Amino acid sequence: MLSKFVLLTTALQAGLATAIGNAIVSNRCSYDIWLWSVDQGYSSGPIHIPARTKYSEPFRSACNGCGSSLKISKTDQLVGGQHTQFEYSIADGSIWYDISFVDCAKGENASNCPGHDKGLVMDSPEQACGKANCAAGSYCPTQSYYVDFPQQKLGLDDPVFGCPGKGTSMDLYMKVCSDEGPLKRSIAGRMTLDDYA
Ligand SMILES: *[C@@H]1O[C@H](CO)[C@@H](O)[C@H](O)[C@H]1NC(C)=O
Repeated sequence: MLSKFVLLTTALQAGLATAIGNAIVSNRCSYDIWLWSVDQGYSSGPIHIPARTKYSEPFRSACNGCGSSLKISKTDQLVGGQHTQFEYSIADGSIWYDISFVDCAKGENASNCPGHDKGLVMDSPEQACGKANCAAGSYCPTQSYYVDFPQQKLGLDDPVFGCPGKGTSMDLYMKVCSDEGPLKRSIAGRMTLDDYA
């Protein structure tokens, strides 16, 4: 789905990837989550992200336009029907991304999708980047994939966001339970300031 969109929209764009930003998964939930980082050539084992902490890795792209997926589970097992996915792709030097409930939604019901009950957001401090924002507990098909082909099946545009023309050096935040307060970060040993995460 994402790769098809990218091919259609960026096939003629020129550009080269230069600096590489980070995919940052912020677990704002009160519960732990586990992450699998997957692309065409690689899959990480389960990466534990305790409640109220974050995980970061540099963007990677197995080929021009190839997608990477960060799969989120509430347990250390990746069980079909039970995981939320953050997906991104770098094509011709621009990044595109989406939230997908394709694995876990049943019709309009995404209650099996980790984080959905408290909201999910994908955005960046870079202002040119779009924001995917699925409000807590809502049916949000313009913000997230519920089906693999939303144009055909729902009559809706693909819910893909990006930072066109801004390169790939920005960080992309993937916030699980986004309605919960941002994480704290410590300055000089004191846990005081709110983080973007
Ligand atoms: C959504 O699915 C969950 C789990 O399958 C179920 O418990 C719940 O009743 C469903 N909600 C609605 C509104 O159908």
